[in-house]
Amino acid sequence: MNRALLARAADRWGTPLYVTDLDAAAARAGSWQRALPGALVAYAVKANPDPALLRRLARDGIGFEVVGPVELAQAQRAGASPDRIVANGIGQTDADLVAALAAGALVNAESIGALETLVRHPGRIGVRVNPAVDARTHRHLATGAADAKFGIALDELPEAVTLVRDSGRRLESIGAHIGSDVRDLEPFVELASMLAALAVETGAERIDLGGGFAGPPEAYAAAVRAHLPDASRLTVEPGRGIVAEAGWLLTRVVRTQARGHLIADAGMTELIRPMLYGARHPVMLVAPGRSVGNGPWTLSGPVCEAGDVLVGEVRLGSDVGEGALLAIGDAGAYGLSMASNYNGRLRPAQAVIEGGELRLSRGRETLEDLLARDV
Ligand code: LLP
Repeated sequence: MNRALLARAADRWGTPLYVTDLDAAAARAGSWQRALPGALVAYAVKANPDPALLRRLARDGIGFEVVGPVELAQAQRAGASPDRIVANGIGQTDADLVAALAAGALVNAESIGALETLVRHPGRIGVRVNPAVDARTHRHLATGAADAKFGIALDELPEAVTLVRDSGRRLESIGAHIGSDVRDLEPFVELASMLAALAVETGAERIDLGGGFAGPPEAYAAAVRAHLPDASRLTVEPGRGIVAEAGWLLTRVVRTQARGHLIADAGMTELIRPMLYGARHPVMLVAPGRSVGNGPWTLSGPVCEAGDVLVGEVRLGSDVGEGALLAIGDAGAYGLSMASNYNGRLRPAQAVIEGGELRLSRGRETLEDLLARDV
């Protein structure tokens, strides 16, 4: 990443600031498409719904995986064609499900109850199963575990198929999402062969492998392809795998504590992943601040929580004191999209880089934005 560009972005729009490199994300999305020719690559909007990012991906023919009416609207606003939208979600109301069908999305039932609603309305329907596959990731990210709330259990699948058949409908897709930030390929191989067999059993036309892989798409494709039919019947839903490495959180050091803390102007309210999953994000010095010694430092946030830590063991030279500008990497996925207003924090501005140019894609939240809903 170009430090000068990041420094310019921070000078123009202040910190904390999220910066997403649209060319990097689009290149990664293109790698997914090339690795699985003919497959539907449906970017998981929850990873990063930056409006400029969504528009760029839609323009490049990438599809979208959405949960709920807001993400659906975001994908539609970005210009996504409905035949490239896949709608998921364990807590969708009847109204949400019917609206997603009416929009032309493929809607996956995650429970028998949801399927009962779906079969009563015209549209494209699929099922998401609970595959009981161990994704070998943080337990909060293991959505495919047998006891997880997601998807229709395998022993409920015959009931689901009967429901679809009795209503004279066809099952367009069968799929699952085993978890996120998965580094191992074996769980995906297990999932692919299971879904291939289930597709034959249920007559489903498409197979949806969900998202979750944190590595290169080429390795993923090489591992799963042998277990699957024609890639044109395949859907994948990468979020992290498209945008994680394309995003940075820029933050400035506000204060230091000699006992080892750098206090930044971003914290758990801007990037909760370290606190929630023990996630380790790389950090780099973009512009020096006061000289305070080599550390190691703990990069902490400004929030009133002892666990408000962004990065531990920071060693970036001695100029990391007040005023230093730092860039936290691997922050393009589940950074801003999980930000909160706790402690009166206003959600940061978002900038994007495209063709080497910087522009703002969403302004910083304001006090007026927050007060606007007070009654
Ligand atoms: N498809 C479905 C149905 C999903 O629930 C998810 C993510 C994805 C696709 C995309 O997964 P990805 O390729 O991005 O791993 N907040 C966590 C991640 C939670 C992901 C939830 N579902 C994190 O910060 O790592």
